[in-house]
Amino acid sequence: MKNRTRKNKLLIIGVSLLVILVIVCASFFLFKSNILKYKKEITIEVGDNVPTIADYLYKDDQIDQEIVWEQLPSLDGKIFEVGEYHGKFVYNDEEIVITLVVKDTTPPVITSPDDIEMLAYEQDPNFLENVTVTDNSMEDITASVYGEYDTEKVGEYILYYLAKDSSGNEARKELKLVVKDNPNVKVSTSSKNYTIKNYYGITYIENNVIVNKTYSLPNNYVPTNLTTINGYIRVVDYVKEAFDNLKAASAGLGLNIYASSGYRSYADQNYIYNNYVKIDGQEIADTYSARAGYSEHQTGLAIDLNTIDSSFENTAESNWLQEHCYEFGFIIRYPKGKENITGYMYEPWHIRYVGKELAEKLYNNGSWLTIEEYYGIESKY
Ligand code: DAL
Ligand code: ZN
Repeated sequence: MKNRTRKNKLLIIGVSLLVILVIVCASFFLFKSNILKYKKEITIEVGDNVPTIADYLYKDDQIDQEIVWEQLPSLDGKIFEVGEYHGKFVYNDEEIVITLVVKDTTPPVITSPDDIEMLAYEQDPNFLENVTVTDNSMEDITASVYGEYDTEKVGEYILYYLAKDSSGNEARKELKLVVKDNPNVKVSTSSKNYTIKNYYGITYIENNVIVNKTYSLPNNYVPTNLTTINGYIRVVDYVKEAFDNLKAASAGLGLNIYASSGYRSYADQNYIYNNYVKIDGQEIADTYSARAGYSEHQTGLAIDLNTIDSSFENTAESNWLQEHCYEFGFIIRYPKGKENITGYMYEPWHIRYVGKELAEKLYNNGSWLTIEEYYGIESKY
């Protein structure tokens, strides 16, 4: 009897548990069908389409309404600004807030030539010509070029284009710069180890044009940016500026320095020189007048001042020039006692612009050095 009662009890408990389980399961499924499953947050990339409500819901759920966004800077259904945005929609009278995170993890895309060729000693190529940068952010991005190269050394250089968007995504693209031999440039070394560069027939040392009896200019050489002093004497514009300063400084001391001759063309010089040859013969003319193509006056950097003859020597103006023209970037080009070096007699009136740095070195504390001595070059026909 006791045993039977126990069995019944167990049966009742078992059945009850089963009933409870069924109720729990049923109500769970019933309840569950009322819960909306959705993604609280979606992350997209800049330039992607703005997600729709369907993107926030899981497969089986369909809601016939749209997300109302708060300040979403979209354009044609796409979004181009990084940030976190919020939107809402209503489900079963309940307002549901969702988040949209817009990131930019995509680097720009550089479209550029694979290699660029140039002739040695020419100006740097325009690296950015034919280069475009596109980015999912639609930003205006300009590429920059980095890497080391030497336009004066024939060879191949690997450089890189670099483009960066405002989120810091970077793109790099290789570029090969090919520096080719330039048949119009000849390079040699002076006795003082300076590089003498002949560029299309014009000689330079440290970017200074060199003109003397050894180094001539092409017949058709005309300096760029010629301007006039007093309306008719021409010099290169920066030389006029330096001369104006020199003139003003000397005028302040009561001196009268004026330009008598500046730029002379090849043809002008040819006329002048041939005239002197007629008067004095070539040997003598060569001591004071340059042959056409060999005159510094063709550079537009030289000026003859005041009276162009020996009467200028020892005037207050000449004495001041000897001591001060270097302060304005000019040199006494044919100093006294250096006739055998320059190839010309002393010309206290002929100054040449070389810039303040070199002018001070040539001034040499009052005992003028010549360009020929300083650079270690000759001046001989
Ligand atoms: N008098 C100088 C040397 C020239 O003719 O250029
Ligand atoms: Zn002169």
